[in-house]
Amino acid sequence: MTRPHIVAILLAAGQGTRAGGGVPKQYRTIAGKSVLGHAVGALAQHPAIKRIIVVIGEGQEIDAKAAAGNITGVSLDYVTGGATRRESVHAGLRAAEGADMVLIHDSARPFLPSSVIDRLLAALQVYDAATPVLPVVDTMVRGNDILGDVVDRDHLYRVQTPQAFRYAIIVEAHDNWSGANEPTDDAQMVRAAGREVALIDGDIMLEKLTVPADFVQAEHRLTSARSTRVGMGYDVHRLVADEELWLCGMQIQHDKGLSGHSDADVALHALVDAILGALAEGDIGSHFPPSDPQWRGAASSRFVEHARALVEARGGTIAHVDVTIICEAPKIGPHRSAMRVRVSELLGIDPRRVSIKATTTERLGFAGRGEGIAAQAVATLSLPEGF
Ligand code: CTP
Ligand code: MG
Repeated sequence: MTRPHIVAILLAAGQGTRAGGGVPKQYRTIAGKSVLGHAVGALAQHPAIKRIIVVIGEGQEIDAKAAAGNITGVSLDYVTGGATRRESVHAGLRAAEGADMVLIHDSARPFLPSSVIDRLLAALQVYDAATPVLPVVDTMVRGNDILGDVVDRDHLYRVQTPQAFRYAIIVEAHDNWSGANEPTDDAQMVRAAGREVALIDGDIMLEKLTVPADFVQAEHRLTSARSTRVGMGYDVHRLVADEELWLCGMQIQHDKGLSGHSDADVALHALVDAILGALAEGDIGSHFPPSDPQWRGAASSRFVEHARALVEARGGTIAHVDVTIICEAPKIGPHRSAMRVRVSELLGIDPRRVSIKATTTERLGFAGRGEGIAAQAVATLSLPEGF
């Protein structure tokens, strides 16, 4: 089965009138990076997204390219939007011709967790369209200076982006739109066309930057108090003949290798679980199910890249990792410094923040008998406060 072609349409053609500040809000800076740059980066880091179409205002291409910064691994195109959000989306949809699925996202919601994209794409397996929402928690009332009726908040939600659609469905909804009011999102247009839109869990990080106070709050969230999180990981793989031995992202010459669904790099698996643990984002099996054939023989470096991207999407950094490999043979010492460099490259951190250790078990237990190799890891992350 070929992978669906998924295109992200990132809207950045608005004026940002309510935000004030002199320049359109997508070109303002939060924590040293433009709003547009944060948004492009968050979409680009997701492995399913290979193309991003940024919808910009007339004549803004140079500013937009500068704001988006240097992004690798994804193709970035710029198209000119229209006077309304709906027209801007329409311009993006025309440029996305050939896509199987599209994610339509407001650049004004720059802090997009990868897990939201995962949930949207999972929903598209079943539905034609999906949108993230958050439940309303406050008491809801009507009013006009004077308190009116309470609105039942059960089944009442706040709608966010990105919204995900099968391409043909969203094009049909836009082509046939004849609503009296200008729509504020695309899911309502698909619903108006008689289609079902799935609701998936949104995220508070996706709050839209609309008024000046939102910028103050976002800057504060990203740059002020940070909390330290520690996660641990543990993994074991069986040692067998006729397998390659991969440890810490390196192939090691040995008379046996580790067996498993992926390349069975036990050290990287423990490391990924440690990072996921610090994020409280499940474990490696929940992100890369062993039952999924696409991970058969996969390089475990991909799992590390995914974990790293999750940290970055939360505005976090990896402060330190400590990995212990437990085996009688091979000897790890001769490979230790190369392993440190390899792991530091995968994590995008200085090798001095990577510790690789090894121990035997005095010939006791499965590791002592050479039946398998175990690994433990601890990861220390620094995350913006409030998660
Ligand atoms: N947008 C767009 N084209 C438009 C209007 C809006 O691409 N003609 C985009 C905005 O850039 C934003 C998203 O749609 O990322 C959500 O819109 P909104 O928050 O209303 O942004 P603005 O229209 O820029 O702000 P304002 O309404 O305060 O002027
Ligand atoms: Mg607007």
